[in-house]
Amino acid sequence: MEKIKAAVTAVGGYVPEYRLTNKELETMIETTDEWIKSRTGIEERRILKGEGLGSSDMGYEAVRQLCEKRGIDPKEIDCLICATVTPDMVFPSTANIICEKAGMPNAFGFDLGAACSGFLFALTTGASFIESGRYKKVIVLGVDKMSAIIDYSDRTTCIIFGDGAGAVLLEASNDETGVLDSLLRSDGSGVKHLHMKAGGSVKPATIETVLAREHYVYQEGQAVFKFAVKGMADIGYELMERNNLTGDDIQWLVPHQANLRIIDATASRMNLPKEKVMINIQKYGNTTAATLPLCLWDWEKQLKKGDNLILASFGGGFTWGATWLKWSYNS
Ligand code: UT7
Repeated sequence: MEKIKAAVTAVGGYVPEYRLTNKELETMIETTDEWIKSRTGIEERRILKGEGLGSSDMGYEAVRQLCEKRGIDPKEIDCLICATVTPDMVFPSTANIICEKAGMPNAFGFDLGAACSGFLFALTTGASFIESGRYKKVIVLGVDKMSAIIDYSDRTTCIIFGDGAGAVLLEASNDETGVLDSLLRSDGSGVKHLHMKAGGSVKPATIETVLAREHYVYQEGQAVFKFAVKGMADIGYELMERNNLTGDDIQWLVPHQANLRIIDATASRMNLPKEKVMINIQKYGNTTAATLPLCLWDWEKQLKKGDNLILASFGGGFTWGATWLKWSYNS
């Protein structure tokens, strides 16, 4: 019997209205538009404003749009995997909350935490559910409200991150397209370079942790940068090599949007010209688990059935990975 493959059959996305520009950041911290653009490639990022709004509200919008585009009733969804580091609450899971908001009573949902690689880890997990034959419709969502955990007085991190959500629907493929291969990696020795100091079980919230600003992203930028360049480029290359793919076989590189210089290094290692690289970091910044599906959302109309895509990521943990996806439809 032929192995079932998981195809992406629809994409949904959502970014908040509010644009935090480099110019506005110049009024908040000691920085310049020129510094941010030349060091990161970012021009603006979207911020979710409004009391009581969280990741589930953005995730819901992406999921709702995806079901509408595919013309399916949310009741048909079997499972929602929500990749995020900014859940609405520590528990219950944000996936749970979205299932209720989106009217998906027949789905089970859970959150998956792998920072910027969350979407890729969730995509491989969701694809395995489809490949097993046990589930028919699985939504893989990447969503982060990074503005909830960013210190806007820290110029080394607040210039980078933004808010957003992107989702794909996975269904069984009836041809050669779908998720074809993945390489995923984790290395806990990277914790010290990128983490949030307090708010977890090791260091629960106290007045002291709040006053010490320990509930925000802590990042040693240069160290992460070095690992990210190597990690993302190497794993993308390895995935291509083990599938006998060359740059000519690939139509699109879909890289995690953390820094334009990291994206350029990855593309060049994989021998891919800039025209084949999805880049939207200039308008959204780094939306953590949402960067990859937001790229697919932005480029959906240009994608053709049979296109070979390599998705690649690197993030806190450290976590990194690459996935080979053969696109399944023309828009
Ligand atoms: O997605 C999760 C994974 N994260 C990443 O992949 C992020 C990887 N790291 C990076 O993207 C970069 O390291 C940053 C964008 C965070 C920083 O860029 P950099 O080129 O590595 O800068 P740096 O940390 O080496 O700092 C260079 C200088 C320093 O000044 P001195 O010590 O040379 O006087 C910083 O204080 O730039 C200064 N600086 C800034 N200046 C203006 C740091 N942030 C800013 C800023 N505006 N916003």
